[in-house]
Amino acid sequence: MAPTALRESPTPPPAAVTKASGKALEDLSDAIDDVNSIKYDSASQFDAAKDKAAFRQYETACDRVKAFYREQHAKQTVAYNLAARARFRSAARPRPRLTVWQAMERLDALVDESDPDTSLSQIEHLLQSAEAIRRDGKPRWMQVTGLIHDLGKLMLFFDDLGTQGQWDVVGDTFPVGCAFDPRIVLAEETFAANPDARDPTYSTPLGIYAEGCGLDNVMLSWGHDEYLYHVVRDQSTLPDEALAMIRYHSFYPWHREGAYRHLMCPKDWDMLKAVQAFNPYDLYSKSDDVPSVEELKPYYMELIDKFFPQKVLQW
Ligand SMILES: [Fe+2]
Ligand SMILES: [Fe+2]
Repeated sequence: MAPTALRESPTPPPAAVTKASGKALEDLSDAIDDVNSIKYDSASQFDAAKDKAAFRQYETACDRVKAFYREQHAKQTVAYNLAARARFRSAARPRPRLTVWQAMERLDALVDESDPDTSLSQIEHLLQSAEAIRRDGKPRWMQVTGLIHDLGKLMLFFDDLGTQGQWDVVGDTFPVGCAFDPRIVLAEETFAANPDARDPTYSTPLGIYAEGCGLDNVMLSWGHDEYLYHVVRDQSTLPDEALAMIRYHSFYPWHREGAYRHLMCPKDWDMLKAVQAFNPYDLYSKSDDVPSVEELKPYYMELIDKFFPQKVLQW
């Protein structure tokens, strides 16, 4: 392993810009999680003793989160999603090369100026999720899934992906190409501004899809979940359940609100159970003790090696 030989994004933006972007992204991402934490209580074991009302104030988070969703829901169109995927797959895109641990450190470095009383760093959130999964005796593939599930946020800093802003990185996700379900957060106030809501095909319940076509065939709004899913799908030995946890972890209208059942195939029902089992570890592990990165690193390095045998991933 020779990190100096790794090719990274050729024109990284200035450090000051990325730090500020990282901090802003982290703050917004935390506010979105706070809103979901408070909205969706859960009966998982590890967090049973926690007072979920103590998570950061819903009202404050709500104003910022509302403004965010207004923009996200107006701009996540079929056309945008096709363009984002074309940029991701483009043969002309120099793909950054990083190991999983390097990706964790890179993401962490981008947000390390966070105000200490607001939130933990990304690496701590990832380790807390993984450790909560480990404490509950869940399998090793699920622990490593907890460890990596938010690494897609690095997309904001890989210029060639053409990420537009926070609205195409974080936030709850939903299908594009068919009618926006009213169970999507704030749907009633926000989707009128999306041109697809007036498209004769995209505005129907099935849209461009067939009944029961399976979520593998459905285009979900582009963001860190979808990006990481496409990165790890062919570059890891993770099982389908892990890939579902990564791809659908922000798909709240589906995994918590019961929407989009008409697009599911039989396999998706098993995936739904997996995603629902994962969700509390993402939402409710944030108030756990701050993990020691150095102490935990050897354990997780071994797990990473097991599920990412080629070690260096193309991002
Ligand atoms: Fe996430
Ligand atoms: Fe997360």
